[in-house]
Amino acid sequence: MRKILITGGAGFIGSHVVRLFVNKYPDYQIVNLDKLTYAGNLANLKDIENKPNYRFIKGDIVDSDFIMALFEQEQFDGVIHLAAESHVDRSISNPTEFVFTNVIGTVNLLNAAKHIWKDEPEGKRFYHISTDEVYGTLGETGLFTEETAYDPHSPYSASKASSDHFVRAYHDTFGLPAVVSNCSNNYGSYQFPEKLIPLFINNIRNNKPLPVYGKGENVRDWLWVEDHARAIDVIFHKGKNGETYNIGGHNEWKNIDLIRLMCQILDRKLGREAGTSEKLITYVKDRAGHDLRYAIDSSKLQRELGWVPSLQFAEGLEKTIDWYLENEEWLANVTSGEYQKYYEEQYVNR
Ligand code: NAD
Ligand code: DAU
Repeated sequence: MRKILITGGAGFIGSHVVRLFVNKYPDYQIVNLDKLTYAGNLANLKDIENKPNYRFIKGDIVDSDFIMALFEQEQFDGVIHLAAESHVDRSISNPTEFVFTNVIGTVNLLNAAKHIWKDEPEGKRFYHISTDEVYGTLGETGLFTEETAYDPHSPYSASKASSDHFVRAYHDTFGLPAVVSNCSNNYGSYQFPEKLIPLFINNIRNNKPLPVYGKGENVRDWLWVEDHARAIDVIFHKGKNGETYNIGGHNEWKNIDLIRLMCQILDRKLGREAGTSEKLITYVKDRAGHDLRYAIDSSKLQRELGWVPSLQFAEGLEKTIDWYLENEEWLANVTSGEYQKYYEEQYVNR
């Protein structure tokens, strides 16, 4: 029996990872540690919350005493670390929060893992989930590989780059059994509607303007979140300590093309005349420091560990749009209260 700590398990990707591990590994004890910030939501885990191999603990990774005591008490065998502040726009309006959670929170977890595994590191694993944004931006061509030099531009990516460096430093300096992966943009169910795809689905449905940053020419490489969760499972079990694995969809889309596609699909699903939703497109002031293009070379992961994405984007996007249309109550709950204030600050008079 293995006891695995998953941090940030009430968030978007974390909830998919928790669900996969709880269902696939009945012999593991899965402990989900989450502060339940605006982005964390236990409703994301309703279907598995009563499973005997699952437990939720509310707590803050920034609280070093709490983290050390938790590790001493629970003696985890493995950690999959997803807890983070994850939205680039919020990192532009409040960078310090990103340093606390993403950098200090990660170092607290590293210290606690190093402490409890010091006598017996064999068979243990600290798995840090990171992003392709640490590599900076690409021009029109090329792909990010595991050898691409770090060049973060937003406070979010700078904080993730810093945490990645700390994880590798703990591996190299203290022999901590650690592995890192860097993934491209995820999409799918349970994503908080501050990120492009769920925000725009919600706005189209409600006939609200679609705020396209700049000219909409930035490119992102989209991966279905359940394929990311499958990659995390493979890397956690088969990846090599000290290694980095890139994860991506080989699925590049210019923002404006993706937005037009979402408008077309939603016109069809909502019974609107073709072209209706595109009229909501509104070009607004660009994001500061906006990276032009991300694209991941995931051949190392495919070659060495045998992972490949399972879902084509056309099918994944349809499924995702259907999920948000069918889960109105979930959307209504997460967009009430605090969300309205965020939306005003972010978009009104932009
Ligand atoms: P999210 O914002 O949806 O979820 C983050 C979770 O972390 C939330 O449940 C939140 O409550 C929790 N959390 C935040 N601060 C905490 C703290 N101090 N203590 C404990 N819990 C805390 O994020 P996501 O999109 O699911 O991303 C998860 C991870 O994957 C992040 O590390 C992110 O950098 C990385 N990542 C995300 C993407 C993407 O496209 N979303 C792509 C690559 C990597
Ligand atoms: O690449 C991985 C990263 O992907 C993750 O590490 C981050 O946690 C995740 O948030 C995501 O970052 P992006 O900044 O790429 O995602 P976002 O959904 O915020 O934006 C996608 C693109 O859409 C980006 O070019 C900015 C643009 N955009 C976004 C919003 C919210 C708009 O044009 N308008 C918007 O309102």
